[in-house]
Amino acid sequence: MQRTTFALLVPCLSAALAAAACAPSPDAHSAPETADTGQRPGETMPRDPHSHARPEAVAVRHLSLDLRVDFAQHQLVGRASLTLEHHGDARSVLLDSRDLDIRSVTLDDDATPVDFVLDAPEPFIGSKLEIPIAAGTEVVHVDYATRPEAAALQWLAPAQTAGGEHPFLFTQSEAILARTWVPCQDTPSVRMTYDAVIRTDPALLAVMSAAGNPTERHADGVYRFRMPQAIPSYLLALSVGDLAFASLGPRTGVYAEPPMLDAAAYELADTESMLGAVEALFGPYRWQRYDLLVLPPSFPFGGMENPRLTFATPTIIAGDRSLVSLVAHELAHSWSGNLVTNATWNDFWLNEGFTVYLERRIMEALRGGDYADMLAVLGRQDLAQTIEDLGPGSADSHLRLDLAGRDPDDGMSDIAYEKGYFFLRSIEEAVGRERFDPFLRRWFDEHAFRSETTADFLAFLDRELIAGDPALAARIDARSWVDGPGLPETAPVVTSKAFARIDQTLAALDGGTPPAELDTAGWTTHQWLHFLRGLPPAMDAGQMRALDRAFALTESGNAEVLNAWLDHVIASHYQPGYARLRSFLGSVGRRKFLKPLYQRLAESDEGLAMARDIYRQARPGYHAVATSTIDEILGWEDGAGS
Ligand code: BES
Ligand code: ZN
Repeated sequence: MQRTTFALLVPCLSAALAAAACAPSPDAHSAPETADTGQRPGETMPRDPHSHARPEAVAVRHLSLDLRVDFAQHQLVGRASLTLEHHGDARSVLLDSRDLDIRSVTLDDDATPVDFVLDAPEPFIGSKLEIPIAAGTEVVHVDYATRPEAAALQWLAPAQTAGGEHPFLFTQSEAILARTWVPCQDTPSVRMTYDAVIRTDPALLAVMSAAGNPTERHADGVYRFRMPQAIPSYLLALSVGDLAFASLGPRTGVYAEPPMLDAAAYELADTESMLGAVEALFGPYRWQRYDLLVLPPSFPFGGMENPRLTFATPTIIAGDRSLVSLVAHELAHSWSGNLVTNATWNDFWLNEGFTVYLERRIMEALRGGDYADMLAVLGRQDLAQTIEDLGPGSADSHLRLDLAGRDPDDGMSDIAYEKGYFFLRSIEEAVGRERFDPFLRRWFDEHAFRSETTADFLAFLDRELIAGDPALAARIDARSWVDGPGLPETAPVVTSKAFARIDQTLAALDGGTPPAELDTAGWTTHQWLHFLRGLPPAMDAGQMRALDRAFALTESGNAEVLNAWLDHVIASHYQPGYARLRSFLGSVGRRKFLKPLYQRLAESDEGLAMARDIYRQARPGYHAVATSTIDEILGWEDGAGS
């Protein structure tokens, strides 16, 4: 183990600090008065099993970062200054850190380094960093550097960018990766404001989840940011690269590499109207601007709701605005998640289920009910698959999770998203939108800038909607949804008129070769997806060739359609599709696409061999979030090369 365990060097001090930190303080649960910085006075927060922080003793309320971006060493180097709020007389503050080189720690204006204690790392949780403080300590300064392998950071070589000339960096902090680039109380139950100075090559632009994003390069390469709203650590975000900006509307815009900018601006033109639509439904947007950053293709997610600056995969740039429900989703997080946050990752559905519900309401407002119905039916199919994969009775199919002892990333699934959506939709159907919409709006307003648990939501539901009506309580049956497996029988049934036409076509195929005269004119992306999902699981070469000749599916420029088709390519061993499969897996790092394709390949021996061959070449270009998933699927030993 290469890390220094300071606890071994100063055991007595460590024990004394630990005792002080654990001792309950008289007003341990008091919190600041302002809604912007945390919970209401007198409220308790659940213990977050994924953080070493003890915010009930000392909470971090502000973070000041001053970081130099070193592309040569793949390192961020500098200082994090954390402003503390004391809730008693704790003599240490506990921070999360993982793979950080902590160089020195000082307090307030005193330049004398203090003896901090950095524990041995635990898998995925990292190391507890314990810093001795006095009753009056206001700020702790941590001088540190990140490691090249920091899981939140992806350092891209110029060849991995669209421009091909400059390196690129982006962060991904959710769920518990912020601690790999900033020492912090890395729990969604703690909120802090932040400011940052980022020093980089003057040829590059730096952007953050904050106010102050530049639209032009600064000659000195120094960029300053300020986040005046208190946010949880998982929303800390930074990206540095050859970026340009295009305005989309008065409050919206997009950043992308110059070669991508026009296409991105065209694709995302609906963003300003989405903002208006969600405000009309659920109240004012509280973050001033909403910009997007379109990243290089290795970004492991579809989107990440970093406040004021959503990070997005370039795979939504389809040329026809057909995949922008992802923007509706990330924008919706400005209410569900960024404004009202899950208190722990066990309550993840409060973030994602609410967001999928809002996403579909936004798309309904923009594109109509038939459009939203298609999204709901596809979501229902995904949910059925996830429930089947998890198996009957799986606790991972409860909305309220128990992720203690596990990497939260492993327990997060479509359950939070789609079962969460269907729960909210079932409440909507039970009471009608006239009552449900104001109820949701009150949930956001009354819990703004706070972190909430599933129990908090159930209490709110009881008080504000059920209000002593036993028949309604029985109809909603919240406990089955929240603490029961699978999908309750009373779950809403969703149908789509636009899919009925596709279903007829599928029925006519009856597993056979598609007729040459199949009329697909006017089919939308979602209709294609429904069609591809409805095709027989394994087809013969003749059927695959006929489909491909008729619809050029192997050549599709729509990443979702291509992904659904490539699944058939693998399942049907359709040789003419393999070159495209290789190039797709070699150029796109979005885990949602990689995971099912590698899984499908791994189903057969020769597929597994091919998967490993593709992965050997592609893996260096994938983000750590993606490799941790695919390593497991392929039984890949890091460094072993096979
Ligand atoms: N917040 C999530 C991404 C995330 C979840 C990152 C958990 C790390 C841990 C984001 O809002 C999201 O849900 N993205 C989806 C897109 C969406 C349209 C369902 C994705 O990336 O596919
Ligand atoms: Zn989301």
